[in-house]
Amino acid sequence: MPQPRELLEQLHRRQALAEAGGGPARLAQQHKKGKLTARERLDLLLDEGSFVELDRFVTHRSTEFGIDAQIYPGDGVVTGHGRIDGRLVYVFSQDFTVFGGSLSETHAAKICKVMDLAVRNGAPIIGLNDSGGARIQEGVASLGGYADIFLRNTLASGVVPQLSAILGPCAGGAVYSPAITDFVFMVRGVSHMFVTGPNVVKTVTHEDVSFDHLGGADTHGGISGVAHFVRESEPECLGALRELVGYLPLNNLDDPPRRPTADPADRRDEALLDIIPDSANRPYDMHDVIRRVVDDGGWLEVQQGFAENILTGFARLGGQPVGVVANQPAVLAGVLDISASVKAARFIRFCDCFNLPVVTFVDVPGFLPGVAQEHGGIIRHGAKLLYAYCEATVPKLTVITRKAYGGAYDVMSSKHIRGDVNLAWPTAEIAVMGAKGAVEILFREEIATAADGAAATAERIAEYTEKFAHPYAAAARGYIDDVIDPRDTRPRLIEALGTLRTKRDRNPPKKHGNIPL
Ligand code: HXC
Repeated sequence: MPQPRELLEQLHRRQALAEAGGGPARLAQQHKKGKLTARERLDLLLDEGSFVELDRFVTHRSTEFGIDAQIYPGDGVVTGHGRIDGRLVYVFSQDFTVFGGSLSETHAAKICKVMDLAVRNGAPIIGLNDSGGARIQEGVASLGGYADIFLRNTLASGVVPQLSAILGPCAGGAVYSPAITDFVFMVRGVSHMFVTGPNVVKTVTHEDVSFDHLGGADTHGGISGVAHFVRESEPECLGALRELVGYLPLNNLDDPPRRPTADPADRRDEALLDIIPDSANRPYDMHDVIRRVVDDGGWLEVQQGFAENILTGFARLGGQPVGVVANQPAVLAGVLDISASVKAARFIRFCDCFNLPVVTFVDVPGFLPGVAQEHGGIIRHGAKLLYAYCEATVPKLTVITRKAYGGAYDVMSSKHIRGDVNLAWPTAEIAVMGAKGAVEILFREEIATAADGAAATAERIAEYTEKFAHPYAAAARGYIDDVIDPRDTRPRLIEALGTLRTKRDRNPPKKHGNIPL
């Protein structure tokens, strides 16, 4: 009978083996590629010493292609739980040094176990993906493992925050687990996501494309919109994951974590008075407005490089985390197009799932006209944004800084769709359309036959501007709760948030709505 100390030594040997992943040569290879190992990543993601590993002795059960001779404890994924700023999170980190991080039946079961724990215990699940996809030697058992994960991703959606970092390859059907999660992080030069790789693309469509151009961080951060955060390095990416968790509740029944701030709630900002240019068509950067209003100018932007005509991100107001949505007049005049609608709709739905008030800054000339937009389905995509705002029952605060024209006025968190507190700056123009466009339609005949067409146009524009290009017609109907001094925006929003802390609102009971996807 072995002695306890011998058994302990055996345990330590087995632990060391599990920690060695695919062995020193493959670990060195991982570093040579400029990548961190699965465990180094967890060290950076989690509070020091907080990681508790589960299932480190799990091994695969396959016997095909001599794979039974290759047994690596842990089977290519490190799973468990840890803390971020002292708060519980569940994690899995795929180990590329073991069969290329490929997903076997048991590898999948380990991931499913931590996902189930995350949901049962009400804590976020964070996946660090670095994998060659389905474990080829396991065939359909591996595909089944993916499906088990997809189902859990879907059932956990809206229950606990699900965050994915892509820190290597993520190909084929494997992309659909991160795609269902709430936020996808990528690293330039390290991350690649695609349904079919460059070789298949070449065979099928004869297109020559590099890994990076097909599915690199900039492609998904700027073109496809698949990635929500793009960072330069793995440490920066893992730091951003920590930062994001700091804004989120642990689950849908929890409140987002308040953080004390030295930034006074009654701070007025003088610069806000002059931020709107004299001419209605001159752009300004809405980032300036957001940073001047929120706590300490702090803001974590989501999908920064995608659909830049609308801004989405997390900030705090008086210590309370909020989601911010803002038209961006500096890009395409802040117009709503397909990508902007989809970007903001998904963000609002996330906020609504997780009890984050939505603060909307409005300066929008309308929806983008054009054949490409109409044929691309701006009707159904724009409807997503409208639906998301209508459906959201979290506190909704709106500040119209300048234009709120046409249908976009309705869409952007208006009073009519349950905006709780709707404020406007004196520079706000709330109308069916801008003065010039309106005059050209209403007075086409008159202008065409006038002796001096330009003078007639100018006169009608002045008349229209006086009638409609201000917030007071809307305020007269109670569509705007108040017209405020722009310098008071922060105190007014914080005050309003305070009144909404006990807000109660519910949608009618139903299985689920049918958002126009
Ligand atoms: C088993 C795999 C593997 C896989 C890689 N490896 N992918 N083992 N199943 N899917 C192993 C390799 O044999 C190698 O083992 C080690 O991992 C490292 O792989 P390399 O090719 O040397 O690494 P690298 O050059 O960096 O290339 C990485 C790669 C490439 C681009 C990911 O390995 C690759 O193309 N793999 C196959 C990808 C793929 O087609 N997967 C299936 C996708 S379909 P050794 O012993 O030499 O270290 C899919 C369906 C999901 O996933 C379905 C969901 C519904």
